Amino acid sequence: MEFSFGLVVLSLFISVTFSASLVSDVKSLAHTDNGMPSDVETIELRMKKAIPNVDDAYLCASYEMPDDEVYIIKYEAIANASTAHHILLYGCSDGPAMSTPTWDCPPLCKGSEQIMFAWAKNAPPTVLPKDVGFRVGGKGESSVKNIVLQIHYAHSSTAPDESGIRIYLTRQKQKYVAGIFLMMSYRLNIPPNTPVVHADISCKYFGETSMHPFAYRTHAHDLGRVITGYQYNTTYHMIGKGNPQWPQAFYPTKEDIEIKPGDSLIARCTFNSTGRDRPTFAGATGKDEMCNFYMMFYTDSSVTRTFSECGGSHYPNLVQSLPADSDKPLPPNPLLDEKAGHHHLHHHTAVVKPVETPTPPPQTGQSKKTDLIFESQWPNENVDIGQVSGVATDDDGLIYVFHRGSRQWDQYSFDIYNQFQQKNDPIKEEAIMIFSKDGKVLRSFGSKQFFMPHGLAVDKQKNIWVTDVGLHQVLRFPPGKDTPDLVLGEKFVPKTDEKHFCKPTDIAVLSNGDFYVSDGYCNGRIMKFSANGTFIKQFGHLDVLQSTDNSPGAFDIPHSLTVAEGKGLVCVADRENGRIQCFDLEGNFRHQIKHKEFGDRLFALEYSPIHDGILFAINGPAIDTSHTYPVQGFTLNLQTGDLLQIWNRPKGLSNPHDIAVNPSDHSVYVGELDDNLWKFAMQHTDTIIPSPEKKELIPVLSSDNDEEKGVDTKKSSSVTPSIVLGVLLVVPVVLVVMITILVRMYHSGKCGKNKGNKVFNLQSFFNSHKGFDRLSTEESDHELDPFDGSDEEEYTAPAKRKQRT
Ligand SMILES: *[C@@H]1O[C@H](CO)[C@@H](O)[C@H](O)[C@H]1NC(C)=O
Ligand SMILES: *[C@@H]1O[C@H](CO)[C@@H](O)[C@H](O)[C@H]1NC(C)=O
Ligand SMILES: *[C@@H]1O[C@H](CO)[C@@H](O)[C@H](O)[C@H]1NC(C)=O
Ligand SMILES: *[C@@H]1O[C@H](CO)[C@@H](O)[C@H](O)[C@H]1NC(C)=O
Repeated sequence: MEFSFGLVVLSLFISVTFSASLVSDVKSLAHTDNGMPSDVETIELRMKKAIPNVDDAYLCASYEMPDDEVYIIKYEAIANASTAHHILLYGCSDGPAMSTPTWDCPPLCKGSEQIMFAWAKNAPPTVLPKDVGFRVGGKGESSVKNIVLQIHYAHSSTAPDESGIRIYLTRQKQKYVAGIFLMMSYRLNIPPNTPVVHADISCKYFGETSMHPFAYRTHAHDLGRVITGYQYNTTYHMIGKGNPQWPQAFYPTKEDIEIKPGDSLIARCTFNSTGRDRPTFAGATGKDEMCNFYMMFYTDSSVTRTFSECGGSHYPNLVQSLPADSDKPLPPNPLLDEKAGHHHLHHHTAVVKPVETPTPPPQTGQSKKTDLIFESQWPNENVDIGQVSGVATDDDGLIYVFHRGSRQWDQYSFDIYNQFQQKNDPIKEEAIMIFSKDGKVLRSFGSKQFFMPHGLAVDKQKNIWVTDVGLHQVLRFPPGKDTPDLVLGEKFVPKTDEKHFCKPTDIAVLSNGDFYVSDGYCNGRIMKFSANGTFIKQFGHLDVLQSTDNSPGAFDIPHSLTVAEGKGLVCVADRENGRIQCFDLEGNFRHQIKHKEFGDRLFALEYSPIHDGILFAINGPAIDTSHTYPVQGFTLNLQTGDLLQIWNRPKGLSNPHDIAVNPSDHSVYVGELDDNLWKFAMQHTDTIIPSPEKKELIPVLSSDNDEEKGVDTKKSSSVTPSIVLGVLLVVPVVLVVMITILVRMYHSGKCGKNKGNKVFNLQSFFNSHKGFDRLSTEESDHELDPFDGSDEEEYTAPAKRKQRT
């Protein structure tokens, strides 16, 4: 039976009016070479030392937006999922509901509010499609002047919390504005013990310009099984299908949909009340149900009202002929289902289910969210590259390669004092190459500058960092430049002091510009420097026993570095010990990861914030040829160390040396010393959204569930003529208002108004690209074969290396 009847309330949450002055800064309209705005700033919307002293607390803090119109182009959580169950951002045009630094919420905003973003566990940073931004700030009557951060805490705690969301802003006017369109049912009447109950919403879109949905989110409470959304223009086009028991993030749409003025929109929620002996009605608490389908869309930037909604079913005929699978649940997804256990915490009245222990995903079997599949040799066009020692990506998904051209690392490359032996013979090829996602060479440089390329990293500013083990130096190249603006270490001079390196292997850069260097083959330490190159500290020590000392901080070739800044960790591929060691950002040992599948040697690792933090890693072949194991790739949970997946190319990897993860589509690149580069694709694509112009893949955000409980009942709506979604019915509005008032009374605390603190940081968040993981559990005595191949440069541990040469 269907119980939602028709009212269509059309609310328009924001009508943004922009002051002309906003666009005045013409020079800021320039973009950098790679198409990213050059002026990106960040604001950290953090809880202001909130103390969630009860279970299930919902707390809020407010932040004022700039006086000028700006565009949010990226959201990134600064949160630990064990603390913050989920986070929502709401835009307020009339100020926050309270003036205290933090408050119990709802209430959220003084007047109307609209949901702008949602984050739940596992959600990677959300980057909007290119040329698309959420418009905030400015002084217009309905512009978003404050953003209220709402966190649903997982547990009570006495520790002041400062979790939040970092937003990336540009002042450059974007070609398209993003908005949210909400379809919801205000009335539900779900009978007891009924396996399939529908609630439908149908309305017509009468906006002025087409909407292009790129992400969607579903929301219901415990009885919700599946929620689907469609566009109808003579045929049905599915916008999205979601399981509301999964983390209620915004998931990318799978197909390109254009909703033109006059098209119809239909959403269907399907409930199963089996086991519940009472009827269930619409409402915000866990006893009640909700039925919401959100679309995140972009549209022409001339559109001023970007938040709107419709409710009720005005076109029952359209609903009757919905595709037959509209109420068929999605197939089970172990990774997402597991999280559902937490959802119930949201509801005050719900029974708290025991939280399942996260199940370490099986090795290779069925497909999971993090599964990588081999895609291709990459780039596919014929490009002449030598031994690939370093591979990295930038935030735009470009791929950087550091290779050795015609040079090989062999037993004659260094003497026993680690002195490079061909000082008059720099590599003649362009050792640094930058590729587009489709494998085209965009730029190459570095001819006659390098001797034995090793590590490569690209920071958020797109500075290119490299280490050259022949030079014993670390060099930084600003974007577009062929000469370094920072050179550390003395050319060709290996030493152990603070101003020198000895065969440094890798670099990882923090968002504030401070960076780490793994140094390296002979010193066995990690060094930390401030952004200007001043030495800060070093940690770790040479594993003098070579592979028998597995104590924390002992390194037998720290070969690759990655930072998981949001987790406060820097992790090192401790190559010849076949393990990953993770430290806090100050260098205190935190944990190690070692699996027997790593074999003896772990070469490289890279962190990705997706799925609450994973490491991708590659191992390397055994030196002791009597002890063989597969050379392959690994996906690991950063914090638990669980091995989530083993992946490989069909013919196997042979000498992988470095790994990089594309931050936008999470594809993984592996560079080998056998002059090869391989690409592995993330099998599930639901963190990927198409960009409006090109069909590039860009990660989307995610959000969580229930916290928007207030959403349907509380929004005050202002009707705008320009987007008429349906018929405005008086009764439902009154109902909504009453519910709103009740909810607010229920939650009310003191009132006041307050401007949040504004924190502006120059944009400086970048991931260091380099991360690698790997490990081995079995010790092996790596005797080096003095004649082993030339591409084994990195085989030898330092002492052995000496003998070898
Ligand atoms: C409804 O829920 C019950 C109990 O969880 C389950 O056994 C049944 O298969 C479900 N029915 C449908 C149609 O989803
Ligand atoms: C209907 O919508 C689909 C998807 O948005 C689009 O590809 C198609 O061209 C539209 N058809 C008409 C007649 O507008
Ligand atoms: C480099 O930065 C550090 C801290 O950030 C500062 O103490 C030091 O004076 C700076 N050095 C130079 C040469 O600017
Ligand atoms: C996340 O929070 C939990 C509980 O407070 C803590 O044990 C864990 O170490 C935290 N993780 C990180 C990376 O901070």
